[in-house]
Amino acid sequence: MKDHSDMHLATKAIHGGVSEDDIRFGEVSVPIYQTSTFAFKNANDGADKFSGKKEGFIYTRLANPTIRALEKCVADLENGYDGLATASGMAAVSTLYMTFLNKDAHVISTSAVYGASRTVLERDFSRFGVQSTFVDTSDTTNIEKEIRPNTRLLYIETPANPTIALTDIKKCAEIARKHNLIFAVDNTFSSPYLQRPLDHGADVVLHSLTKFINGHSDIVGGILITKTEEHFLELRKVLRYLGGTMDPHQAWLVLRGVRSLALRLEKSTSNAMKVAEFLKHHPNVEWVSYPGLPEHPQHELAKKQMDGFGSMISFGVKKGLEGGKIVMDNVKLITLAVSLGGIESLIQHPASMTHANVDRKRRYEAHITDELVRLSVGCEDDRDIIKDLDQALNKI
Ligand SMILES: Cc1ncc(COP(=O)(O)O)c(C=O)c1O
Repeated sequence: MKDHSDMHLATKAIHGGVSEDDIRFGEVSVPIYQTSTFAFKNANDGADKFSGKKEGFIYTRLANPTIRALEKCVADLENGYDGLATASGMAAVSTLYMTFLNKDAHVISTSAVYGASRTVLERDFSRFGVQSTFVDTSDTTNIEKEIRPNTRLLYIETPANPTIALTDIKKCAEIARKHNLIFAVDNTFSSPYLQRPLDHGADVVLHSLTKFINGHSDIVGGILITKTEEHFLELRKVLRYLGGTMDPHQAWLVLRGVRSLALRLEKSTSNAMKVAEFLKHHPNVEWVSYPGLPEHPQHELAKKQMDGFGSMISFGVKKGLEGGKIVMDNVKLITLAVSLGGIESLIQHPASMTHANVDRKRRYEAHITDELVRLSVGCEDDRDIIKDLDQALNKI
């Protein structure tokens, strides 16, 4: 069996998830086990697998070898106990909520958390009495102020979407321990290559695999990774029966994508630094939020809890809403689309797109202002990205 324990992250991303015992014909790529069910040798074999006496596969909603390879690989990258791949990032989020929130429980989360993660709590889980409070977690004192006797879950996103504000993971972990809360982190914006929240005290990490881990804008998927066996089993119990599990072909595509995680993140992060510097000096740009810039309010925190500053940038353009729309209408190389973390650069304007239906006051409370443009910097030549932004900004 290959021992991954002393490998570095870039190596684990390429070789992770597979042990010698899994390889049957010398295959280098994990096979796609496109099967819904697995035959038993006889009645006792089936009985032993169902009772857990014997390891083995039963039915793909419960577990599948291709999906297991992905789960083990990403759990290894996050220094976790084990992982559970899900049909989408939101399937991971809703499984997290369903597992750890009982009737009338209370959640505290980041005010700029991914919109659907908030909507699910406010619109759907509220039907079961679940209460939720959203605060600016970049100041962790805001969290303690909101803790109630029924608070059960602290769920943060750092860097947050789309403000690129950071939250101190270690401080959150201390608060969670003190008040006996489950502490979960959405690590989508960083990927394990740049940030590993379990090492800083989180209980659960989740990802929209759709983004950096897959990295090619061609699948939707998610994953939950835990620090302990206990939390893993609790989540698995809920996921297996609720059914938001992944498909083997989807898992295989993510396994292919994750192999180049280090290469992609190295390139996109170095591109992002150059793009942020360019934006900072452009006359039609009012501000730039990028953790790699010394003026980012949490630049020091980024240096402490991240291994790089990532490739997500938000910036404010002149002429507010109108200025944002002009940039969207004039980019040529950069793709005008939601989502992020692909090999190609993607741009969007929350005020006129993703957050257009959010009440303006509430949007401003989360610092998602009219002029904010969100850019996911890809792996193209940085000179081409900058040239495209320059010509689009000059149209304002
Ligand atoms: C930070 C973050 N978390 C979760 C999600 C949800 O993931 P998915 O779209 O894969 O369901 C997204 C999607 O954009 C996201 O940006």
